[in-house]
Amino acid sequence: MTDKYAVVGNPVAHSKSPQIHAEFASQTGQDISYERLLAPLDGFVETIEAFRQTGGKGLNVTVPFKEEAFRYARTRTARAEAAGAVNTLKFENGEILGDNTDGAGLVRDLTINLKRSLKNKRILLMGAGGAARGAIAPVLAEYPAILVLANRTVEKAQQLAELFDNKLVPAPYEALMEQSFDIVINATAASLKGELPPLPDQLFNPGALAYDMMYGTETPFMAWARQHGAGTVADGLGMLVEQAAESFYLWRGVRPDTEPVIQKLRTSA
Ligand code: ATR
Repeated sequence: MTDKYAVVGNPVAHSKSPQIHAEFASQTGQDISYERLLAPLDGFVETIEAFRQTGGKGLNVTVPFKEEAFRYARTRTARAEAAGAVNTLKFENGEILGDNTDGAGLVRDLTINLKRSLKNKRILLMGAGGAARGAIAPVLAEYPAILVLANRTVEKAQQLAELFDNKLVPAPYEALMEQSFDIVINATAASLKGELPPLPDQLFNPGALAYDMMYGTETPFMAWARQHGAGTVADGLGMLVEQAAESFYLWRGVRPDTEPVIQKLRTSA
């Protein structure tokens, strides 16, 4: 029997997840199907309940349903609790498990694909929405020297700092004037709108990595980073594939090889 999986979102037509999981399945010999599931904005629970009742084994959850999926899950992993959002659901023996693989995917992309240790590094994370929140615990677990969280609305960064026992330093963008970093991660929605957070010229230490969670296009942040001394500039395609691999591992107990899948997506983009 082929086990059924899907990615649920609205919109969902653009999702690369079906292609990624098809690659993982053929590479590992797993007998699964993986579809796109468009849920009405007011019909998330009904849509996924129907999927589960008809034998679905698991779902990836994308915009704008990750918080709703968090509430829907009956049990949650520690990293889902820390993220306050669920991007992976696993259905087994009547159980509904919620996980969040986004932050782990980011850290795997940084440390394995981009070969950057985060240990003792000065790291700047920009943004205080769901994308940033999911990254905090996995990044802190790598023991950076400091994790600064910059946000336009500084109160949101302060709230996140409190939530994480003040292990990160909240900051408005103006406070970055005198600071520089080894790794700068853009988790804002600015790139989606073709915008750039207000950043000072001296932001990057020599050889620094500039990372944008967006993929598919050169973002204003990536272009700015190239002009302002970043040693390496990366988009979020590796993170996308790595979070998918974490989900696949949760569902199937097998870890796929991500490297050829990232390469394939890059050349087909
Ligand atoms: P997501 O859940 O995808 O992270 P979100 O919750 O809407 O999305 O969060 C968007 C983030 O991008 C916020 O941190 C937002 O800053 P504010 O909290 O001040 O609104 C940030 N953001 C959006 N556009 C931005 C811009 N042009 N410059 C800087 N930050 C921006």
